[in-house]
Amino acid sequence: MKIELASSYGFCFGVKRAIRIAEEHKGSKTYGPLIHNKDEINRLKEGFNIGLAESLNDIDADDSVVIRTHGIPKHELAVLNKQNNKVIDATCPYVTTPQQIVEKMSEEGYSIVIFGDKNHPEIKGVVSYAVNPKDAFIVLESDELEDLPLSSKVALVSQTTRKPEDFLKIVNALILTRKEVRVFNTICNATFENQDAAAELAKRADVMIVIGGKHSSNTKQLHSICKRDCEDSYLIENEEELDPSWFEGKKLCGISAGASTPDWVVQNVINKIESMKK
Ligand code: F3S
Repeated sequence: MKIELASSYGFCFGVKRAIRIAEEHKGSKTYGPLIHNKDEINRLKEGFNIGLAESLNDIDADDSVVIRTHGIPKHELAVLNKQNNKVIDATCPYVTTPQQIVEKMSEEGYSIVIFGDKNHPEIKGVVSYAVNPKDAFIVLESDELEDLPLSSKVALVSQTTRKPEDFLKIVNALILTRKEVRVFNTICNATFENQDAAAELAKRADVMIVIGGKHSSNTKQLHSICKRDCEDSYLIENEEELDPSWFEGKKLCGISAGASTPDWVVQNVINKIESMKK
């Protein structure tokens, strides 16, 4: 069996940047997990003494706090600043952009529609920048728009990791019912690149392994894209979850990894699959 890596996979620019920032601030705490990968968080803890604050209560006045790639809500940032914490911002610039758009467009009187998952930390952060919270709405499906009290002017942004074709469904539904729709394509290119490469490989592979955090929406989407063309697609967090039966009789094993998956985790998976072949 041959093993082939997707032509683009794993860490994106924003995650590489956040890890570098954390490594440069030994002994600091991240507010929430820096990225969606337990193994990388452990590496930072052991090698760089990076702590994890699950809530604002876990942060003491003299702590240095690294803001994670997904960002945090505006009011929580205000609390940290008020407590005089040293705040080190590792929010991905591609997440800061929709935060700024939401703030500006809501100041200009637009109703805000955010295409994304209301429980995702990125979206909790983005929506918090609306100056009028009653005029900001989070949707995942176009039919959710029907009952919303939107004004005639609407500004639309997307969660960075969403599929463009799903975003277009929201755009189409809004354009038919509102006088003015400002569409900001805030989907991140890094996601496209990994997705396109995984889709291309899944068409040829007879088993696909997608490596990443089980809570990472980006990894889950990669997995669902692979599933479309390769029924035997599996999502794992690390090599311990591999099952030898997945590879029996297979000729090409494709590998992809979510945007928060470090290369050393990918390499461990490849090594384990290689050893199973023997
Ligand atoms: Fe940023 Fe895109 Fe990565 S939003 S954290 S560069 S997937």
